[in-house]
This record gives sequence, structure tokens and C-alpha cells, in this order.
Amino acid sequence: MSRQWPLGSEVKRKDLTGGAMLYDASRAGNVAASWFDPEYWRERNELDGEARGRGTVHFIRTGEEKGLVLRHYRRGGLVARLSRDQYVWRGESETRSFREWQLLYQLRRAGLPVPTPIAARYRRQGYFYTADILTERLMDSESLASRLMRSGIPILGWITIGRCIRMFHNLGVYHADLNAHNILLVADDLVYLVDFDRGRLMRPGLWCDANLVRLRRSLEKITYKLPPEHFSEADWHGLLDGYRQAGGVTPATLNASAANAQRTTLPAA
Ligand SMILES: Nc1ncnc2c1ncn2[C@@H]1O[C@H](COP(=O)(O)OP(=O)(O)O)[C@@H](O)[C@H]1O
Ligand SMILES: [Mg+2]
Repeated sequence: MSRQWPLGSEVKRKDLTGGAMLYDASRAGNVAASWFDPEYWRERNELDGEARGRGTVHFIRTGEEKGLVLRHYRRGGLVARLSRDQYVWRGESETRSFREWQLLYQLRRAGLPVPTPIAARYRRQGYFYTADILTERLMDSESLASRLMRSGIPILGWITIGRCIRMFHNLGVYHADLNAHNILLVADDLVYLVDFDRGRLMRPGLWCDANLVRLRRSLEKITYKLPPEHFSEADWHGLLDGYRQAGGVTPATLNASAANAQRTTLPAA
């Protein structure tokens, strides 16, 4: 995958008071700064719950089967106590939200199963900025973490997860935080990756193994108190089998039916 994939003409940038936004005019030509404010959606009665990861993620309902996800960037760990959502300004192209938006845009274009990016914005205050991103909501999805808390998943599911991760690795997509909360199971048999904050494109290497090790730790952390049928050694081997079998597989080389299965149904613009 090209490291500098040109952005299409539907990608627009707009100045906002104190900042700017980047958006896909073919999907959200009418996007406004208010879209990044949860209160805007609450007043319209379109807020549909939230999830707590590092920050707060708001789910927005925009139609029968459609929705958006709004995420405000927040730090994890120790720094979080010092400056919860402020990042040091290093220029617009270095903002967390613009970077993630552009990466998601490229990944979608390459046919990888990630949420479609809608809009990203930053607000600058002197040496610092805050950031937000809106993506298309994957309806009927559940994170692997939350599924495993309830039950196990069939071995074929583990194989599919392994294949999915390998496809990203084959294209040199580094996910900075590959854990069970960032793997989404959609409908019965689709696997998506979310949360590409700090992700980037780089030549496949040792980081691929490190990614898997990190995922394994996350799975153990989530399931160690649960009955063994929620996550077993056989499950992990299923994932690794899927991963190994998919060497060289990219969305373009998948056969047509599988390729379709890996694609989200895009809403009419
Ligand atoms: N596009 C999306 N569609 C559906 N659910 C999502 C989407 N993006 C995120 N989520 C859910 O929200 C959770 C938190 O989002 P994430 O992007 O991982 O932010 P963070 O971990 O930084 O809080 C995810 O684990 C997932 O369950
Ligand atoms: Mg996450």
C-alpha cells in the first residue's frame, strides 16, 4: 500500500473557530462543528448510549439502521491525570484526529474492514489542542471482549479473526493497541478492527508478532476468571492457524464472495 495515498476529491477541509475539520463530503456534506458536541445529539434525541474505553465514545442514531460513533481523544495511563485530553500542538497534519481519519480513509479504500471515517476535527489552544473523530457506526456489532465475557465463540470465528489480523499485517498496517476491545464482531461472521489512534503504515516486521502477543495478553486478562470454554488454548491456536493461512492475502486477492463479505454495506451518500 502506498504510504502517501492521495486523498480523493470528496475529502474536504474546513476552518472552524479555533481549529479545523476534515470530512468526507460525499457522506456528510452538511457536517458542522456541532456534530462533535454530544449535547447536540442529545437535544435531538439521537444519542444512543456510550461506551467507556480510554475516553467516552458516544453512539449516535441517524436512521433506522444507521449511526455514527463520536470519540473525544483522551490519554490513557499516568499522563491522563495531568492533561486528560490535551495534546501538544505539532501542526495540523500531526493531530491525532486528522491522522486517524486519513489512515481509516486509506484502509477503507484498500478494502480493509474498518469503520468508514466521516469527520475529524481539532481545536487549538496555544501550545495544545483537543481532538474528536466521527466514524460510521458498525451496527449489530459487539467487541470480542464483551462477547467473551458472555460466552465462547466457535473455532471458525477464531480462524476468521486470525485471517483478519493477518490481512492488516500483510498490508503493513500497524495497530498501536490491538486488544480484544478493539476487535468487533459484526453480525455473525464479520470481523472489524477499530481504534486506529497512533496506528500507521510500516513494513511488516517484528511488530507483527508483538501485536499478537499483546492480543494474547488482553484475551488472558479478560478471561482468566471465566470458565475455560470462553477462551482456550485451542481457540488461540485457531486464531494462529487463520493468521498463518492468510499469509499474502489482501482484500484484493480474496475471491469475490469473500471480498464482499469483508466489506461493509455503505449507505447511499
Ligand atoms: N465505528 C464503530 N462502530 C461500533 N462500535 C464502535 C465503533 N467504534 C468504536 N466502537 C465501540 O466503542 C469502543 C471504544 O471505541 P474506541 O475507538 O476503541 O475508543 P477508545 O478505546 O479510545 O475509547 C470500542 O471498543 C467499540 O466497542
Ligand atoms: Mg479502544
